[in-house]
Amino acid sequence: MKNIVLIGFMGCGKSFAGALAAELAGCQFIETDALAEDVAGMSIPCIFEKFGEIFFREMERAAVGAAAAETDCIIATGGGVVKSAESISLLRKNSVIVYLKATAERLCENLMDDDSRPLLDGLSGADKLARIKEMLDERGGLYEASADVIIDVTDLTFEEAAAEIARIYGER
Ligand code: S3P
Repeated sequence: MKNIVLIGFMGCGKSFAGALAAELAGCQFIETDALAEDVAGMSIPCIFEKFGEIFFREMERAAVGAAAAETDCIIATGGGVVKSAESISLLRKNSVIVYLKATAERLCENLMDDDSRPLLDGLSGADKLARIKEMLDERGGLYEASADVIIDVTDLTFEEAAAEIARIYGER
């Protein structure tokens, strides 16, 4: 049966709520970021630092291809996956695509002490919020257009978001 694919901006809970949802649903959980790290043999910040974003996007497309070949999984993607129409059409073939939507303020709060996102590297406070707003303006339409289902997670805990994802998994 179909997978559930989670899309959304960095910090929306794709990994955390996704892993919890997979536990609740009793299914396998896959993260395309982790697959890309395995293929490259290094962490995402290292991939960006040594080889740049373009190389990372190639790793990410390969990881999406591997994940899309699975069935009955919950798959967390990286926040930039929607930039590749090819990746989205690959995922769409056998998945319900769920957008975890949140305001820039909530995302910024979730990413407060995070230093694992190269695209937000070195930013804090108002500068970080401004960058998130800018990127969300660019990507928001892509998330909405790619989604079969949208969950507004702005006022949800990760546990509540996980329960909703598991419910959608059960009804897919
Ligand atoms: C990215 C999001 C990250 C990771 C990479 C690029 C993006 O994943 O793929 O740092 O372009 O938004 P998360 O959304 O899991 O943080």
